[in-house]
Amino acid sequence: MSVTRPLPHDAAHLHVTGAARYLDDIPAPANTLHLAFGLSQIAHGRILAMDLSAVRAAPGVAAVLGPDDLDPMPDCSPSAHDEPLLAPGEISYCGQPLFLVIAESHLAARKAARLAEIRHEEWPAILTIDQALAANSRFEDGPQIWERGDAAMAIAGAAHRIEGAIEVGGQEHFYLEGQAALALPQEGGDMVLHASTQHPSEIQHKVADALGLPMHAVRVEVRRMGGAFGGKESQGNALAIACALAARTTGRPCRMRYDRDDDMVITGKRHDFRIRYRAGADGEGRLTGVEFVQYARCGWARDLSLPVADRAMLHADNAYFLPAVRIESHRLKTHTQSATAFRGFGGPQGMVGIERVMDHIAHALGRDPLEIRRINYYDSAAEAGGLSAPRRSSGSAPPEGISAKKKTPFGMEVEDFILHEMTEALARSADYAARRNAVAEWNARHAVLKKGIALTPVKFGISFTLTHLNQAGALVHVYQDGSVQVNHGGTEMGQGLYQKVAQVAAHAFGLPMAAVKITATDTGKVPNTSATAASSGSDLNGMAVKAACDEIRGRIAAHLAATRQTDPAQVRFAGGRVFAGGDEMSFAEAAQHAYQARVSLSATGFYRTPKLSWDRIAGRGRPFLYFAYGAAVSEVVLDTLTGENRILRTDILHDAGTSLNPALDIGQIEGGFVQGAGWLTMEELVWDAKGRLSTHAPSTYKIPAVGDRPQVFNVALWDGANREETIHRSKAVGEPPFMLGISVLMALSDAVAACGPGYPALDAPATPERLLRAIDRVRA
Ligand code: MTE
Ligand code: MOS
Repeated sequence: MSVTRPLPHDAAHLHVTGAARYLDDIPAPANTLHLAFGLSQIAHGRILAMDLSAVRAAPGVAAVLGPDDLDPMPDCSPSAHDEPLLAPGEISYCGQPLFLVIAESHLAARKAARLAEIRHEEWPAILTIDQALAANSRFEDGPQIWERGDAAMAIAGAAHRIEGAIEVGGQEHFYLEGQAALALPQEGGDMVLHASTQHPSEIQHKVADALGLPMHAVRVEVRRMGGAFGGKESQGNALAIACALAARTTGRPCRMRYDRDDDMVITGKRHDFRIRYRAGADGEGRLTGVEFVQYARCGWARDLSLPVADRAMLHADNAYFLPAVRIESHRLKTHTQSATAFRGFGGPQGMVGIERVMDHIAHALGRDPLEIRRINYYDSAAEAGGLSAPRRSSGSAPPEGISAKKKTPFGMEVEDFILHEMTEALARSADYAARRNAVAEWNARHAVLKKGIALTPVKFGISFTLTHLNQAGALVHVYQDGSVQVNHGGTEMGQGLYQKVAQVAAHAFGLPMAAVKITATDTGKVPNTSATAASSGSDLNGMAVKAACDEIRGRIAAHLAATRQTDPAQVRFAGGRVFAGGDEMSFAEAAQHAYQARVSLSATGFYRTPKLSWDRIAGRGRPFLYFAYGAAVSEVVLDTLTGENRILRTDILHDAGTSLNPALDIGQIEGGFVQGAGWLTMEELVWDAKGRLSTHAPSTYKIPAVGDRPQVFNVALWDGANREETIHRSKAVGEPPFMLGISVLMALSDAVAACGPGYPALDAPATPERLLRAIDRVRA
């Protein structure tokens, strides 16, 4: 069995020995040129004059391209044609590329880029949510609104009412490998690109557009990324286009990589949000109605902001049934980096809103927040359907009334809700109740160090909300020696997709892993692919590869069956052997037989996710095939004099369905949790009053280090198959665990609450400064 085994990442030994080739390690011809952008120093304004003569005269400079040299100006946007490669006169954010330097070395290009003399007229910049609201600066005419029932009335009539707001900061992706691209000009004007991208087809498309070529003239190859986290869905377009243009202009190979500071200053980050909420609850703490107003700061260009903001709305319920609900979403346009995809894609921000509401209600009622969370959960499949077994119902809807707590605000039935059982199991294994008492006792005895504990759930929808993206292709070859080469549209960014898909292929042929080679993602092998995103990499590409393997296996089986008077269904592939009608041979011999008989040993595979339908304007339908679940308990200790804090212990129970690879999945869960906790606690982006990003290097932007992981960290996988027919009944795992980090924010809120009677109303990131301010608030 190759699937379900905890095998190491296929490139683990290459990663740790430094032998893994990242983009900048790819050998390039000796005449390769290097690129750097000259960047704007103001957030908003107009270029009056740009003198690039000193740049052109600098040592090692081969060519310099300004906006006037590009006609038409290439566009880098993945969505709206609103991202010119170089600012065409008007400057939209501080750090925007203004001109392009092409030089003999990376350093020469960067040094020359500093020599431009630019005169500009500076205009007032819209930087904050408040400024954007005041100027009505947004990407759609007005807010997007979804509602069900009369939330205002339900809140007005409730026994308890709460209201408040939470600020949720953005996040820098901090992939270890920065953005990078390499263009190799070919005969006849064709172009080959290597890019550090999650979306090779998008790079192909944008480069073809920029060069005025059909897509068939551009081939993009991606072996791996050194991390991406959503930051390489669209943000690599500019580098690839720049390299391709420069390669065509000079006829020489061109490569570009952003220095870390430039990367942070130029590229988009996670959207920061402000979420206002009002909620009503009955005497038990059961929600009667809730209203959210979500303000997303999107930056200067549209990029992926609309679907990100949609996903925040789609996760405003998280794990809870919202009887009457109104969600209003504002997509605000500001003179800052264009905020982009980042693990969870808006989902985390939406979830923080409802988790805050749960925490706030519990505080108002003086109850254990876990109790409040549990009574507001969706009904489990078993309860609502009145079925004794939780698995597989017939699909016929249970009678009205019984199904009362199953519909999401957007009308999708939650058919597979398993969080009751998971929460129960986690609370037991993590000893939640006893530790909550111990925390209370500790807090009664200690004035300075306060502890806090919180258990928070995750329910995350799996599928792209843009329905047509839920498709994938594969290309599989079996060679005469029985070795197998697999290609698919997914990209490898450290998450282990290649390994999981290789396991699927090995399993299909009954071969050992060593017989299967996964090759670099290549637009020439599998066309029209979607970004490797929305956690759907293994769901989509695993299925496409399985389809291709099944096709070839079927052909081999049919041939062997015909020549051995047996039924193709009786031909078995296992342990590297093939069994056909009493005959047994190696897989290589079977491949030889098929080859000799002129049977094709190569096939494409294709998959599209079933059951999806979604109307994003109405906010109605089934955007997701299924949900992935998880829960985390975190315990923290907080120094109330300094605001410093530690995660003492975290226990996680996470649902990866029937895991394709438990080792890789646990790695995703650990990494996702730490990244989520970092987002909500220590990672802080600061722009000054002029719109300059002050935190543009690791010296000022703090990501979690090894020492910041929980001192005790227990991660377990929930044992249960996906009820949907996904690849070997597994579930997507890339993004959902990120939101387990919310348990740390809530545990810190719990620790602050121990300081006084008031509600902490803690904003994120909960830096020491914000924690100290919250402590002052609860004491007041
Ligand atoms: N894990 C690693 N090591 N590096 C990454 O860049 N990206 C995350 C997640 N896990 C990422 C990662 C994001 S944002 C997504 S959408 C998924 O991986 C994408 O891969 P998958 O669909 O194969 O899970
Ligand atoms: Mo992940 S944010 O969907 O690339």
